[in-house]
Amino acid sequence: MTTGEDRVISPVQNTEESAVEVSLRPTTLADYIGQQQIKANLQIFLQAAKQRNEPIEHVLLHGGPGLGKTTLAHIIAKEMGVNIRVTSGPAIERAGDLAAILTNLGEGDILFIDEIHRLHKIIEEVLYPAMEDYALDVVIGKGPAARTLRLDLPKFTVIGATTRISLLSAPLRDRFGAHYKLAFYEPDEMAEIIQRSAKVLDVNMHPEAVQLVASRARSTPRIANRLLKRVRDFAQVNHPATAVTQPIASAALDMLEIDPLGLDAVDRKILQTIMDQFQGGPVGIQTIAATIGEDIDTLETVYEPFLLQLGFLARTPRGRVATPAAYHHLGKVPPDDLQTRLL
Ligand SMILES: Nc1ncnc2c1ncn2[C@@H]1O[C@H](COP(=O)(O)OP(=O)(O)OP(=O)(O)O)[C@@H](O)[C@H]1O
Ligand SMILES: [Mg+2]
Repeated sequence: MTTGEDRVISPVQNTEESAVEVSLRPTTLADYIGQQQIKANLQIFLQAAKQRNEPIEHVLLHGGPGLGKTTLAHIIAKEMGVNIRVTSGPAIERAGDLAAILTNLGEGDILFIDEIHRLHKIIEEVLYPAMEDYALDVVIGKGPAARTLRLDLPKFTVIGATTRISLLSAPLRDRFGAHYKLAFYEPDEMAEIIQRSAKVLDVNMHPEAVQLVASRARSTPRIANRLLKRVRDFAQVNHPATAVTQPIASAALDMLEIDPLGLDAVDRKILQTIMDQFQGGPVGIQTIAATIGEDIDTLETVYEPFLLQLGFLARTPRGRVATPAAYHHLGKVPPDDLQTRLL
């Protein structure tokens, strides 16, 4: 089994990536490309809170890996001029860990909880009153003599990020006043992101080369930045002292076995499996996972969203179906009765 992290086009952050990622991260709302609706809403939301001189309500950011949740959380903190403390659901193991974090926050500070869907149940229960009433209930003593002491907390803001909104408990979800869902990026936004990153990395790229990288980056900024770096390496070694042209970018991406739509071998294997072994579907996600040797969670968060976005995969009540477009992309003829199975 793999977690999908090693693929060039995985949206999941790999281990050596974080340092460069920080340098490529936009730091203001104006620099954050795309997600126009969210930005417009946020602008008002932040300004209103500033005018009232209040901390912002708790914010939930939801969207696939690499779409810009962490980046946005840091931008919000910067725009509000407050400190941000970063943690993640699985990192908070005991109620005491959370209590320590919360009591160290200052007025208006932001607590960023990444992967908030992985927060332990007992921690969630400590978090509820903290989010709602800015209070922490501490149990002192044991047995019949135990009593609860309520500690006041500064007014702080939780920004939660999740790739799996369906795994978040309803009571936790309800405690967020603002909820933003990040979408895949449009082609022109992707090009803009690559242009911006090329400038930061001091890579001179022709606009057609930018377009080409954009078209293969699965509508995901993290993948765009990663492909850009691979193209830069390739160009530096094979074509030093020239700008990156479209043929150079194309040769670099071909070496990575990424096809014109940004699919790699694993994506094609998923589609091929559905077509060849299950006559196009419907087939359950568990069965697909078992057949190709991936875990279900990886399949659902890493591979499937983009295939759904391309319209290559359809979700039906009885399972996943490969669409006619997917057949055509792989140069295959769809079965005659495929349409009926898409219902
Ligand atoms: N709107 C954007 N404009 C420009 N660059 C962006 C944008 N969104 C993301 N990026 C770039 O993509 C990279 C990944 O973004 P980020 O780490 O915020 O994703 P994420 O949603 O938090 O992913 P994960 O779910 O893996 O935590 C960042 O380094 C940043 O440079
Ligand atoms: Mg993140």
